[in-house]
Amino acid sequence: MINPRLFFSASVASVFLAASVLAGIESKAPRPPRAAFQVPLPLLPVLEPTSRDATTDYYDVTMQVGQKEILSGRLTTIWGYNGLFPGPMIRAQRNRPVVVRQLNNLQESMSVHLHGGHTPPESDGLPYDLVGPGARKTYTYPNNQAAATLWYHDHAIDTTGRHAYMGLAGMYVISDPAEDGLGLPSGKSDIALMLQDRLFNFDGSLNYPLTDSTITTGVVGDTLLVNGAVQPYFQVARRKMRFRIVNASNARIYTLALSTGEPLVQIASDGGLLSAPASRSAIVVSPGERIEVVIDFANYALGTSLILRNQNTLFNPAIADVMRFDVVRDEVDNSSVPATLAASVTKRARRVDATPVNRTFTLEANTLNGRPVWTVNGKLYDVQRVDVSPRLNATEVWTFQNNSGLPHPMHIHDIHWQILDVNGVAPAPGDAGPKDTFLVPGRAMGVPGTVRVMGTFTDNVGDYVSHCHNLEHEDHAMMFNFQVQP
Ligand code: C2O
Ligand code: CU
Repeated sequence: MINPRLFFSASVASVFLAASVLAGIESKAPRPPRAAFQVPLPLLPVLEPTSRDATTDYYDVTMQVGQKEILSGRLTTIWGYNGLFPGPMIRAQRNRPVVVRQLNNLQESMSVHLHGGHTPPESDGLPYDLVGPGARKTYTYPNNQAAATLWYHDHAIDTTGRHAYMGLAGMYVISDPAEDGLGLPSGKSDIALMLQDRLFNFDGSLNYPLTDSTITTGVVGDTLLVNGAVQPYFQVARRKMRFRIVNASNARIYTLALSTGEPLVQIASDGGLLSAPASRSAIVVSPGERIEVVIDFANYALGTSLILRNQNTLFNPAIADVMRFDVVRDEVDNSSVPATLAASVTKRARRVDATPVNRTFTLEANTLNGRPVWTVNGKLYDVQRVDVSPRLNATEVWTFQNNSGLPHPMHIHDIHWQILDVNGVAPAPGDAGPKDTFLVPGRAMGVPGTVRVMGTFTDNVGDYVSHCHNLEHEDHAMMFNFQVQP
């Protein structure tokens, strides 16, 4: 394998060389500035329904080309839901269905997946359930699940990595009365943050380098975006604020922490609230995962700036700063973070089926015609093959055993799971909530990394997928089908 560090630095150096030569001849424009904390945090626009009736909210979304000034003085062509990067946020209520009519105005086939949605197969956005150029598909989301931070993104077979990278990703938030009753920070103090890293060409266009090296490592950017802005700043009041964070990067794993050394108070993970708030000095968020944290800026004096840091240095280049919070004003704060968040999570965690069905999935690197591929149980993804067939209402324990040296953020569609252990150790409280995506550590010192998760297949029967959420691994076959039997 080519050493990815060598590969990246060589290619970056040649891009700079070419760029400076071009700049000298063709234009006086300097390299676009990418200094941190130059632009304010953009808030994600909330999509208005086209119509509502007694039971349902209806939305219309078009997948289309858009342009956005991400780097100062450059326009970047993106593919976005409604032409936006990131896509508009959809806000849903538990048990109130949402219908999204998607029109594909792009030149390639698409599939829209609601990540974290407990969705019937026909609306799940499976990789082979494609919407061709010019075609429409109506997705129905029942929202019969707890309040949670979800996201939607493209899931077209073999091309998810490039499609998501071009901008086809947006947030989807479900609320419910139980959560509303807790008094958590809400309204202007409830902020969604979508983290993505990207590479840009000199003209501002997105650079998606798909090579043997990036199929192995995943595509990693040198520029960190939060809600589509380069490492922004955000002016906040001296009060508690809730942040819903999704790692929408193709491959980069973040270890988030505050520059002040104060812990982050985590209140939720992928599938919704934790049983109780968990104070954590740093939180690992791998691609596809969501965390919700509360930061109490009343702990800081007016004029304080604190940085949300990324302590993960294993990706090249390492990017240490995510965004900056500037404490600029006082504000009355009536919100609270109760000591008990979700009683049902604890109950669910205690319920262990006497005879769960056990299945094991081994994760491995392989080659096909000399090119790198990724396998599950030694097999490449095959649309036609049903790999496992759990029964409706069965409780199953799935063991992911990682024989490769790289970690894999595994994602399972349809239901939420409880992590039993990671390398044999029970999860930290913040990782003990409902999960649909979890990082399976790499093989170390000859010992495979393992994660065991337990889940119960409720409500839905039919076809789903599970796959690595490193999108280049997913596109290079690290995926399998499961079919829930009635
Ligand atoms: Cu976020 Cu099957 O993916
Ligand atoms: Cu992977």
